[in-house]
Amino acid sequence: MKIISNKSKLIKFTHYEKNIGLVPTMGAIHQGHISLIEKCISQCEKTIVSIFINKPQFNKKSDFQKYPRLLKKDISILKKFKVDYLYLPSVNQIYPNGSNKNIKISSFRKKLCGKFRPGHFEAVVDVIDRFIKIIKPKNIYFGEKDMQQLKIIEHFVNKNHSKTKVIGCKTIRDKNGVALSSRNFLLSIKENQIASKIYKLIYDNKQNLIKKKLSLVSVKRKIFMLGARKIDYVTMLDINKLTKPYKRNNKYKIFVAYYLGSTRLIDNI
Ligand code: PAF
Repeated sequence: MKIISNKSKLIKFTHYEKNIGLVPTMGAIHQGHISLIEKCISQCEKTIVSIFINKPQFNKKSDFQKYPRLLKKDISILKKFKVDYLYLPSVNQIYPNGSNKNIKISSFRKKLCGKFRPGHFEAVVDVIDRFIKIIKPKNIYFGEKDMQQLKIIEHFVNKNHSKTKVIGCKTIRDKNGVALSSRNFLLSIKENQIASKIYKLIYDNKQNLIKKKLSLVSVKRKIFMLGARKIDYVTMLDINKLTKPYKRNNKYKIFVAYYLGSTRLIDNI
């Protein structure tokens, strides 16, 4: 695996590659990332993983500061999975003239997390736009756990980068049902158990919610009772309206965002 921090060097190495797959990450590599990487390796001739903790997409300084940083461990995992290139750019290489304040993204940004994280999706799309311009990947991979991010990026890339295809990959869960996320590294054992109970609560009650035998308000109350400190939203959306048609009986998803201590978790079930 070649580790590259310099933009021109990376461009020199990848210039002649026609079938590059990119897996953009902020590090703290887990099994969810690995599933994206394995899909990328199976579909592309060369796989690039980037690790870049993109400061503008954090709404709070403290959230950026405490984001897990596990570079040594990440490098050894990525080597094991035979990633071709690890791109580790500096802030200056990505933002030589600051961020793009005029980026136009889908109106889906106004829903779910967008209501609670002003500017977040614009900053995510800005950094992905920059990565695509540097790397020119054929495919770029994202997890369905961040469904809103995936859909907003897909919309932007389809409009602005016709040679790049966005590939969404299924959410990977631990054995207790908790959706894998780098933020899980910040949870205590107790908080992890609460996250698992919240997953099971929503999973077990999904049909009741769809059939309106149970209200979202009472699920919200139960999530608080399980130990969430704050809930940004618990809501049901018809994903046929957000994504390519799913099976009919699978069209509703419950989207949730809540805090355990100071860690914000999201999921869609
Ligand atoms: O999902 C993430 O880890 C980040 O939002 C991404 C897509 C790498 C952009 O910084």
